[in-house]
Amino acid sequence: MRKLTITRPDDWHLHLRDGEALKAVLPHTVRQFARAIVMPNLKPPVRSVAEAAAYRDRILAAVPAGQQFEPLMTLYLTDNTSPDEIVSAKASNFVKAVKYYPAGATTNSDLGVTDIRKCDRVFEAMQQLDLPLLLHGEVTDRHVDMFDREKVFIDRHLMPLQQRFPRLRVVLEHITTSEAVQYVVSANNIAATITPQHLLFNRNSLFQDGLSPHFYCLPILKREEHRSALLQAATSGNPKFFLGTDSAPHSRNSKESSCGCAGCYSALHAIELYAEAFASVDALDRLEAFASSYGADFYQLPRSTEQITLIEKTWRVPDEVPFPESPLVPLRAGQEMTWQLA
Ligand code: DOR
Ligand code: ZN
Repeated sequence: MRKLTITRPDDWHLHLRDGEALKAVLPHTVRQFARAIVMPNLKPPVRSVAEAAAYRDRILAAVPAGQQFEPLMTLYLTDNTSPDEIVSAKASNFVKAVKYYPAGATTNSDLGVTDIRKCDRVFEAMQQLDLPLLLHGEVTDRHVDMFDREKVFIDRHLMPLQQRFPRLRVVLEHITTSEAVQYVVSANNIAATITPQHLLFNRNSLFQDGLSPHFYCLPILKREEHRSALLQAATSGNPKFFLGTDSAPHSRNSKESSCGCAGCYSALHAIELYAEAFASVDALDRLEAFASSYGADFYQLPRSTEQITLIEKTWRVPDEVPFPESPLVPLRAGQEMTWQLA
């Protein structure tokens, strides 16, 4: 039986929700990860340092007894975020980044930014204080094809942004295209997170054996050539690419609906999913750096000193896990996996 022992990983992009939902999902993340960058798209969103502090306390209160976990908080950028809030965020020491959602791009993004240039004073402060900007990199223009929205965002908004603020450190979150890979490789002061679903699946999965809402996330899964470019990037050993699950819990009822929510639930078995992806190209020796080193280095945080062990063993992903209202369907529900966390 093969074994793989690595430094305990961190999740650099995670949705934990709040209340009973938070209590249902947090133990899954804590089992695997030392820390996580926690997304601020609650209802209402986490827009101030005071709200981030209160949310952080609720997360810490939900950590199972005897376990360790450090939530790294983010602020939700709006048209009205002030440069003063950025100064407080930096001083707080627990707010580690600011998240940009284009208004209307995804779940709970209605209060997001309507025009990226409206935030230039805030970006100036972030550049000055070296507080990273996390981008949901998709245009919301209804004339742009759903599958081209990331590529168009890079040309239309990201390149000009980096020209205006060349020293601002940016993470292009949950990248889905070869164009994003190429851009991140070639530009300065930019890194990217990659999800397990974008490494393991292409857009065929959305339509395999009928419409499959549990593969619907944003940015949407792309063609095979893009999946393969992402897997190449993740396993390349380039420190600009690191782990961020974008695990986004929505109940079965809200996914299997005439207007289904976007998001894949991967927190249950995230590191095992990444191990499958890396094993598929015989690159398990590159998993530790991607999962446990490069993200910490980007965020200028110490790497974890703990370890986890994965063993090569067949097991079946449960069909569902408990969640308020109706259960959660994890990514790859009911299917066999070959790596398991010991
Ligand atoms: O699929 C997604 N789900 N993409 C996002 O950007 C948001 C997330 C969520 O919060 O459900
Ligand atoms: Zn997300």
